[in-house]
Amino acid sequence: MIAAAGSGERLGAGGPKAFVELAGRPLLDWSLEAFRAASTIAEIVVAAPPGQEGSVAERGVVAVAGGEHRSESVANAVELCGEEIVVVHDAARPLVTAALIDAVVGQLASDEEAAGTIAAAPVTDTIKQAGHGRQVERTLDRAGLWAVQTPQAFRADALREALSDPDSLPEATDDAMLVERRGGRVLIYQAPAENLKVTTPLDLRVAELVLSERA
Ligand code: CTP
Ligand code: MG
Repeated sequence: MIAAAGSGERLGAGGPKAFVELAGRPLLDWSLEAFRAASTIAEIVVAAPPGQEGSVAERGVVAVAGGEHRSESVANAVELCGEEIVVVHDAARPLVTAALIDAVVGQLASDEEAAGTIAAAPVTDTIKQAGHGRQVERTLDRAGLWAVQTPQAFRADALREALSDPDSLPEATDDAMLVERRGGRVLIYQAPAENLKVTTPLDLRVAELVLSERA
């Protein structure tokens, strides 16, 4: 499932981020191309900005209206997924590749005890925690820190259970944290930092550069 229902406020393009042009195509279409090319993907469900389900369905995928918060959009789409493994991906990561999707699914499939596998890259910045007045409280040990991305693959039953408590959805910044909270074993697949998230206009420029190098 692809989460594409956000409004894209920080990008400031005046409309939903999923339809903002990147190297001549709407952001969403880059992810769709990768998912279509992935051999582990059987069906694609997209959570669309409410009212835009029609233009998403025209792309030949199942479209459902997203919710107010990201995990609510994911929950709406997961309800329509019929497979045993569900891959959750943000349309905001247009540089995803079929190889990365298949690798994340492959790692989950090869470990029966795992509830999920998530793409992530080692943190390269030093991360500090600060309190009131921005006074530094501590420096975290970077060695064990990962910057989490999507795609994230889950066993469908574990993901559905994790998404079943509506009160926990608004605060969730990814779906794996909801699975972890219920004791689910989540594995990391080391992904390239290049699988960046488009949040601001700067990210859009960097993504355009990466795509021009690929072409
Ligand atoms: N998303 C979603 N439903 C929401 C909010 C977000 O499907 N209610 C999706 C976005 O479309 C995006 C992904 O979740 O693909 C990550 O969210 P984010 O980068 O925050 O995108 P936006 O919410 O659109 O951007 P902003 O927060 O700047 O408004
Ligand atoms: Mg957002």
